[in-house]
Amino acid sequence: MPKNRVYNWQIKREMVFPYQEVRPEKQFAAVFDTNKCIACQTCTMACKQTWTTGTGQEHIFYNNVETKPYGFYPIGWDVKLLGMLGAQTWDGDTYAGKTIFEAAPRGMVTEGYLPAEEDYAYPNVGEDEPYGTIKQGDYLTMPHRVWHFYLPRICNHCTYPACLAACPRKAIYKRPEDGIVLIDQQRCRGYRECVRACPYKRTFFNNKSRISEKCIACYPLVEQGEQNQCIRTCIGRIRLAGWLSKPDKADPENPMDYLVHIKKVALPLYPQFGLEPNIYYIPPVHVPAPFLKQMFGPGVEQSIKTYREAHTDKTFLGLLTLFGSTENWITKFKVSKDDIASGYDKNGKKMVEVPIMEPVYIRPYYDEKLDIYRHNIT
Ligand code: SF4
Ligand code: SF4
Ligand code: F3S
Repeated sequence: MPKNRVYNWQIKREMVFPYQEVRPEKQFAAVFDTNKCIACQTCTMACKQTWTTGTGQEHIFYNNVETKPYGFYPIGWDVKLLGMLGAQTWDGDTYAGKTIFEAAPRGMVTEGYLPAEEDYAYPNVGEDEPYGTIKQGDYLTMPHRVWHFYLPRICNHCTYPACLAACPRKAIYKRPEDGIVLIDQQRCRGYRECVRACPYKRTFFNNKSRISEKCIACYPLVEQGEQNQCIRTCIGRIRLAGWLSKPDKADPENPMDYLVHIKKVALPLYPQFGLEPNIYYIPPVHVPAPFLKQMFGPGVEQSIKTYREAHTDKTFLGLLTLFGSTENWITKFKVSKDDIASGYDKNGKKMVEVPIMEPVYIRPYYDEKLDIYRHNIT
């Protein structure tokens, strides 16, 4: 297997990868704000209803939401790999450990494992289970010592996809026009090397068709300038999709660039794996930093500080308000002096505008027009 050196900006260094560094014209990306996710699973069901209702797809969830620290789908996907990968130290912002490509056993493309069939049997294992036990008086301490949070997951449409690198049939490709990673259903022969290699376990083997499949980033919607099913149906309005530039090309009016590169508030999931994943997370502010650092890398504390100060930055607050505000793709955003956040399409047409603060109407105790008293106001 040829080994090229490619640059991965998330770990701030070069690393080995079987193919050369080729970046798409535009890269599909999304930001998920974990502080707002309520694990209602609307995204999970919207995706399932759209793409995976067939026979053989019963266990397939292109999107799932798991409770951390005890939820996994498939069982133990991250803790198993973290255990196999060895020490994952950072030297400042630079990753000093091995990526899954660098830790690959001889003859393999990545370090990894093939889940057993039973590992897919409990998609909701650990749901709402917190870390720690509540002792008397604990409810009086802040922050709470008992915690959990919800982690929504889809395919990361990685810049360096392990699934693509591992497939002996070359059945997986990354689209040059938008960076979406797809499995060619005609070429796939069901070798499952992609399932073994993907550290996020986002390719799934279909028991009926005997080939693999995965999240397609709802490309029929994206091609029409619309956001993905899991994003537009999100009840908590925690998600926003967009195009992400490389760090040196960051545009402050591009929502993804602003959150990932400029504010540095949205972080990749397990950047140490080395895939440059393109789904970014705003980490939960109430969870202990060591746990979050392992999961989202060294930028966690700064991200939490920035998020806590969002109320002092109208541009940031405005962009957070635009999450879930439209089904259309937001290419640029602006926040006006009168505190209106607006989203624009690729042609500069305004698609949506939202006030940062909801207007407050105070109704009088005695309404002269209706000649009534209102007793339920304070
Ligand atoms: Fe492939 Fe997994 Fe990355 Fe998706 S998350 S592109 S399935 S390696
Ligand atoms: Fe499912 Fe589309 Fe969301 Fe992928 S982008 S998880 S296919 S709804
Ligand atoms: Fe390749 Fe995975 Fe199919 S390894 S052949 S895409 S099952």
